Amino acid sequence: MSIGGYRLLKNINKIFISQTIRKASTKAEVNFQKRIFSGIQPTGGVHLGNYLGAILNWVKIQNEHSNITLSIVDLHSITLPQESEILKKRILEMTATLLACGIDPDKSTLFLQSTVPQHTQLCWQLSCLTTMARLAHLPQYKEKSEKLKDIPLGLFIYPVLQAADILVHKATHVPVGEDQAQQIQLAQHLAKIFNTKYGTTFPIPHAIIADDTSSRIRNLRNPTKKMSKSEPDPKSRIQLSDTSDAILEKVKKAVTDFTSEVYYDAENRPGVSNLMVIHSMLTGLSMEEIYQDANSKKLDTGKYKLVVAEAVANHLAPIREKINNYLSRPQYIYDILEEGRIHATEVAQKTLDEVNLKVGTILNTENNFVVS
Ligand code: AMP
Ligand code: TRP
Repeated sequence: MSIGGYRLLKNINKIFISQTIRKASTKAEVNFQKRIFSGIQPTGGVHLGNYLGAILNWVKIQNEHSNITLSIVDLHSITLPQESEILKKRILEMTATLLACGIDPDKSTLFLQSTVPQHTQLCWQLSCLTTMARLAHLPQYKEKSEKLKDIPLGLFIYPVLQAADILVHKATHVPVGEDQAQQIQLAQHLAKIFNTKYGTTFPIPHAIIADDTSSRIRNLRNPTKKMSKSEPDPKSRIQLSDTSDAILEKVKKAVTDFTSEVYYDAENRPGVSNLMVIHSMLTGLSMEEIYQDANSKKLDTGKYKLVVAEAVANHLAPIREKINNYLSRPQYIYDILEEGRIHATEVAQKTLDEVNLKVGTILNTENNFVVS
């Protein structure tokens, strides 16, 4: 079987190629430049699901395919209550983490969403093109609002801001975990509505979703659910900042089943299969190699957990060290975000000028944005 990023990367070329073919076959279609965009909320720290399902793929895309624009989406975070001092700390930590994981500011753009107000300006334009009924169906909204008595309006229009993030950068590809698929569909829908009403302006963004295994790393305490920031039990996830001892404790306590043999069967044995996926992705070993090794050493799942814990701890220790190193230099982090802001603003303002002119909310602009 293929694991995580590997199949994804093979597919990326196919996606790019198919887009080029499509472009060539539709005369009216504009030749959009390939742009890759993604976002991550600066809340709750980064866990192994975020790392394997999203960040690792961003780094691979950056190093092997194309530069990437990444936004730390603080405005999405405040759709649920946040303490301001903690939020500021989390923004620094998230930036340090992305850098420590290999996002290279010389190749990619890393910026804080709130510093580029064109995102919220386009959000308003797009919010006028969709309906409340369309938004009410989205699963992330349903899931988050279920627990609340009074639902903030921001939580309801969260996906419109996400669509604006993507469209204001005219992104052609959006690498995300599986849980984001429906939000990307909304961005596609809004791009189509806008293009139909005002003429081709936005590319239709494609979601790039890694294969099943890495796009859904499972909760260690309940492997039928995904590993998530919002799960109350901290033992359900491994944070990138966890010490080796904490990792060992969490992996030892990971829920498996009553079969002691180590083999992959995601459907019937989600617990041990999840550990094998994590092990494989962090070491590059194939499932077959892991299976053969565990069986030749007669490891039961209890002993296999120690092997996995060691692999996770060895992989994360240097990243943790780099995170701490970046955090000791906050000015460096601010400088990276400022550089990112300048670059992101340039792209976003150009799109917004074009949108305003087409919608009629600006009379003229000096920018040259003719697209055909
Ligand atoms: P979030 O934690 O919701 O801000 O997600 C940040 C990125 O990580 C998104 O692209 C998610 O799709 C991805 N992600 C979150 N949880 C998981 C998980 N358990 N497995 C794989 N990817 C995930
Ligand atoms: N909603 C995404 C999440 O919860 C974060 C996000 C905001 C995003 N804007 C985006 C992801 C734009 C991709 C593209 O993970």
